[in-house]
Amino acid sequence: MNKTRKILLIVSGGIAAYKTLSLIRLLRENEFQVRVVMTKAAEQFVTPLSLASLSEDKVYTDLFSLTDEAEMGHIQLSRDADLLLVVPASADLMSKMANGMCNDLASTVLLATDKPVMIAPAMNVRMWHHPATQDNFAKLKSRDVKVIGPVEGVMACGEYGLGRMVEPEEILEVVKTHFEEVANSKQPLLIGRKVLVTSGPTHEPIDPVRYIANRSSGRQGHAIATALQKAGAEVTLVSGPTRLADPVGVKVIHVESACAMLDACQENGRFDVAVFAAAVADWRVKNAGAQKTKKENGKLPVLEFAENPDILKTVSNAGNDRPELVVGFAAETENVVEYASAKRIRKSCDWILANDVSPETGTFGGEKNSIHFIHSAGVESWEEMSKQAVAERLVEKVVAYFNG
Ligand code: C5P
Repeated sequence: MNKTRKILLIVSGGIAAYKTLSLIRLLRENEFQVRVVMTKAAEQFVTPLSLASLSEDKVYTDLFSLTDEAEMGHIQLSRDADLLLVVPASADLMSKMANGMCNDLASTVLLATDKPVMIAPAMNVRMWHHPATQDNFAKLKSRDVKVIGPVEGVMACGEYGLGRMVEPEEILEVVKTHFEEVANSKQPLLIGRKVLVTSGPTHEPIDPVRYIANRSSGRQGHAIATALQKAGAEVTLVSGPTRLADPVGVKVIHVESACAMLDACQENGRFDVAVFAAAVADWRVKNAGAQKTKKENGKLPVLEFAENPDILKTVSNAGNDRPELVVGFAAETENVVEYASAKRIRKSCDWILANDVSPETGTFGGEKNSIHFIHSAGVESWEEMSKQAVAERLVEKVVAYFNG
């Protein structure tokens, strides 16, 4: 038995409940492990004993059963499954799910879960079309609950319309596709790809003890390095000073200044992809002191600046050494898309992830980011999301670029 294909089948009350008998048989024939939870109403349509016989397991019905809680609590029931499958999903159970109600075992398990949930609704056509059910349906879909059906047909009550449950064979196909997708998404898709990521701020020395810095936390760049590594890439992270731990499984080169960052980017081999997420200082102090500048009565130091190398631009124009895919960031406080699109051309990179860093957005140093993904064919504006989610979305783009 494949241990990673465990289904918690939640049976709610409806005439279609009898179809779960053949569904369990089909799932088990296809090597899924099935454990059943049923509502009180479901017991009117199909007996716990039949479901227990077919699943060859205990059937769970009671939220407050001491034996169940001792053997397997409701939290454990959902944690132990890879997928929660609600068949049939009655109007009542959909309503409870949509509204976070949990007054029986089935609804409690569904509220306690962090696993994918699929439902196969079955109800009278008028109940299905009622705005309350449609609102619940929309809510559940927006929370990534996968809804299978319903389909049109003759109902048990003799009426005709939408509300009939899809057949067990079709439910099986959807379940199989789901597990195939999960298996594929676990394939490391960037195996063999060498990737460079820059992250964090740079520190530009004024003298041996003082420096000029910026507020970059490095969170976005580090999240990108981590996500790329998880996708199977061989990642080199060139990081300015941050408070973050080195990502596991990533080669990390710690640098301080922009010049040292450029050297590290150039001295560590050739890359297939480079992502420049570092907030590199535009200028360095030209007359940085070799010794600590002393306070002299009334005399203020005067700093002279020199322009720092533009690492992104340099690597983008490195001829044969140019990575196939070069990605830059553009932090702007106004006209974000317009300025960033111009930057993509000016710096000769392939993609730019542009974000608004005006103080009210809290992006700099914060947890969230809201990105405009700019490429040669246009702009995609992403909804606000965590920096980790931005990293994952970018990795999806990189994977699509290399794997079509
Ligand atoms: O010009 P600007 O600093 O807005 O460009 C931002 C992009 O260029 C980022 O991807 C940043 O990592 C990169 N950059 C760089 N070297 C610099 C300045 C910016 O790599 N000196």
